[in-house]
Amino acid sequence: MSTPVNPKLFDPASFDPANFDATTYGPWAVVVGGSEGVGAEIAFLLADAGVSSVLVARKPGPLEETAEAVRSRGVECRTVSVDLTEAGSTEAIATATEGLEVGLVILNAGANTYGAPVADSDMAEVRKVMDLNITSPMEIIRHFAPQLRDRGRGGIVVMGSMAGYLGHADMSAYSAAKAFSRVFVEGLWLEMREHGVDVCEVILGVTRTPAMIRAGLDMDIPGMNVSEPVDVARETLGTIDRGPVHVCGGEQNLKQIEWSSGIDRGRIVASAAKRMKALRGDN
Ligand SMILES: NC(=O)c1ccc[n+]([C@@H]2O[C@H](COP(=O)([O-])OP(=O)(O)OC[C@H]3O[C@@H](n4cnc5c(N)ncnc54)[C@H](OP(=O)(O)O)[C@@H]3O)[C@@H](O)[C@H]2O)c1
Repeated sequence: MSTPVNPKLFDPASFDPANFDATTYGPWAVVVGGSEGVGAEIAFLLADAGVSSVLVARKPGPLEETAEAVRSRGVECRTVSVDLTEAGSTEAIATATEGLEVGLVILNAGANTYGAPVADSDMAEVRKVMDLNITSPMEIIRHFAPQLRDRGRGGIVVMGSMAGYLGHADMSAYSAAKAFSRVFVEGLWLEMREHGVDVCEVILGVTRTPAMIRAGLDMDIPGMNVSEPVDVARETLGTIDRGPVHVCGGEQNLKQIEWSSGIDRGRIVASAAKRMKALRGDN
């Protein structure tokens, strides 16, 4: 007897760009945080599916390099070099995409940029975490939502985190911002599905992105479930219509989320922190 497959799971290897619905989600996609890691892999897969991209990130060099690699796959690619935590970034994206038929908006940029106990925190740095994960995605969604709604098809995808399911010491602003994002997306999903537009918050576990590598995060801890950016990209594009929330990275991440969502918050938050310390070998 074969084991039943959990419908909440998605095998990244099963995603084939040839079967991607470029009519619904193309001809253009906007990939915010598209210069590297998961965002760049998404743009490559979209190119293989025949969808052109507008890539948004800060550093012009990597942005242009990724754009050139996207173009070499036979589609168009534009770039917008902006810092999403600065005023005017949404307007710059709006200007660069004027006149384009955008079928898909991916909000990928959002890794944590600041860690400190709340009592010692620098509010300017905390504000950047909130701007990157809350204000900027909301503004960008507000810009593209009317055209997607009026078009009656397309998608909006926001990258979330398992960290958004429970509080974390020294990064409470980041985990709370990711919780905000998920609940915001759930409401947006309800609104947009009435108009045929798919909305999904894709929950990532630990993923071997360039940002994590640069941050020096030890991802080779036994027992830690680490995903590769290309697999997350495949799973993201394969589950756009499985909103409001899809958990990436297989059964281990799914079980972790179920456990993290329990009622006994003190026990859950404290034992998650203890387990993370043990995984890292801290005392
Ligand atoms: N990697 C993980 O283990 C992990 C785990 C859970 C959730 N996630 C989520 O997955 C998403 C991607 O994470 P990531 O690890 O790849 O790191 P990331 O720094 O959020 O994403 C990288 C992309 O975003 C751009 N970016 C970052 N900050 C920006 C800013 N202020 N303005 C404009 N562009 C910006 C980067 O280019 P520039 O640096 O040139 O701007 C790059 O293209 C995030 O939302 C993160 O919260 C990741």
